[in-house]
Amino acid sequence: MKYPSEPFRIKVVEPIKRTTIEARRKIIDEAGYNVFGLPSESIYIDLLTDSGTSAMSDKQWAAMMIGDESYAGSRNYYHFEEVIRDLTGLSHIIPTHQGRVAENLLFSSVLKKGNVVPNNSHFDTTRANVEHNEGIAVDLVIDEAKDPTNLHPFKGNIDILKLEALIKETGKDNIPLGMLTVTNNSGGGQPVSMQNIKETSELLHKNDIPFFLDACRFAENAFFIKEREEGFSNMSVRDIAKKMFSYADGCTMSAKKDGLVNMGGFIALNDKKIAENIINLLILVEGFPTYGGLAGRDLEAIAVGLKEVTDEDYLSFRINQVRMLGDSLTENGIPIIQPPGGHAIYIDALGFLPNLPREQFPAQALTVALYTHAGVRAVEIGTLMFAKKDEETGEVKYPDLELVRLAIPRRVYTNMQMNYVAESLIDLHKNREKIKGLKITYEAPVLRHFTARFEIIE
Ligand code: F0G
Repeated sequence: MKYPSEPFRIKVVEPIKRTTIEARRKIIDEAGYNVFGLPSESIYIDLLTDSGTSAMSDKQWAAMMIGDESYAGSRNYYHFEEVIRDLTGLSHIIPTHQGRVAENLLFSSVLKKGNVVPNNSHFDTTRANVEHNEGIAVDLVIDEAKDPTNLHPFKGNIDILKLEALIKETGKDNIPLGMLTVTNNSGGGQPVSMQNIKETSELLHKNDIPFFLDACRFAENAFFIKEREEGFSNMSVRDIAKKMFSYADGCTMSAKKDGLVNMGGFIALNDKKIAENIINLLILVEGFPTYGGLAGRDLEAIAVGLKEVTDEDYLSFRINQVRMLGDSLTENGIPIIQPPGGHAIYIDALGFLPNLPREQFPAQALTVALYTHAGVRAVEIGTLMFAKKDEETGEVKYPDLELVRLAIPRRVYTNMQMNYVAESLIDLHKNREKIKGLKITYEAPVLRHFTARFEIIE
């Protein structure tokens, strides 16, 4: 089979409703043409995010029943710690309720004003947490990543020469840590090669700079290494993941992705002093260090999820389900970021809607059209999310790419449902000249994409 069939059977079902196009027209109008404003019950297939939307396994649900809700020293914490230590080889394991808190605690412990943090591409919460602590977040992904048609197998790689130049220019003392996001979400869910992880780690260490992974999708990244990088085809994905972590001094992780749970995260690191600082802050904002804002049962579900996620039948289905969706769009002339990423397909909205100018939010217009046409929720990653207005000149700087992300929840939708998504998009593409642009009527000063409102330009 070109694409493997589902390596699980369904034990519990959650009914989802189909609505009519007339009903959806009304609902999206009430939501101000912003899919973040939609009630989830009005959605047939929800591809807003792969974060916190996974289906847990029977073993994870069983694990929830052995939750130990002691305030301090819960047995689930020790299991959580053991699993993460075994996977990452890192010494201090600090739970948080999700990834951005891990980022917040890390950066507020290590960043000083004006410090620089290099990354392949910062995810938006990572960037926001660096900037909130008065640091400068610098993205140094390879140039190939900026070309949606380029078939480079590791488009998440950081440009080592640019990293070297940045260290020289900034001075190593101004760089409290360097990061790699695996897989690179903001760059299309593209993987980073082991070679690149190794070279990044060596270059940073040569300059006494600690190296961290943003490990949200480490298992998907490890699967791509097995599939694509020379020398890894006979190594287990588990061992590849361990090798990735072996180069790092620490990591932040949102367990809502490759932890296969609906809530949770952690920081793991070797530096005892920084770990102590983080724990002191954690107690202030999240809770005691053996629960970190989570229930004991949540920690147990994460421990089980982190073991399940490197199952190769699961990963092969997972990666290929996303690929199958990408391939059917490509075969029907819909431009997407190539090759398909690990957790999502990113449609090139400028290629899909060449007649809409950037100021009419083409990716948002396509997102709205997809919901209205088919009840499928995607998310805009383009002008709405990233355009910056120069305060003095009023000139708008647009991001390199104008994308619509179809993020696929883990173990949730069947291949038939993915076919429905593909067919809906193919239909829309045939009628693309009918899709109208949007005009913004309300925007918040920061992270405007969550609450912005629009009207249709007639
Ligand atoms: N880092 C990456 C690479 C992410 O993709 C996310 C979340 C985070 C950090 C933050 O984790 O949500 O648990 O606080 N990404 C989600 C997404 C929201 O839709 O891509 P969080």
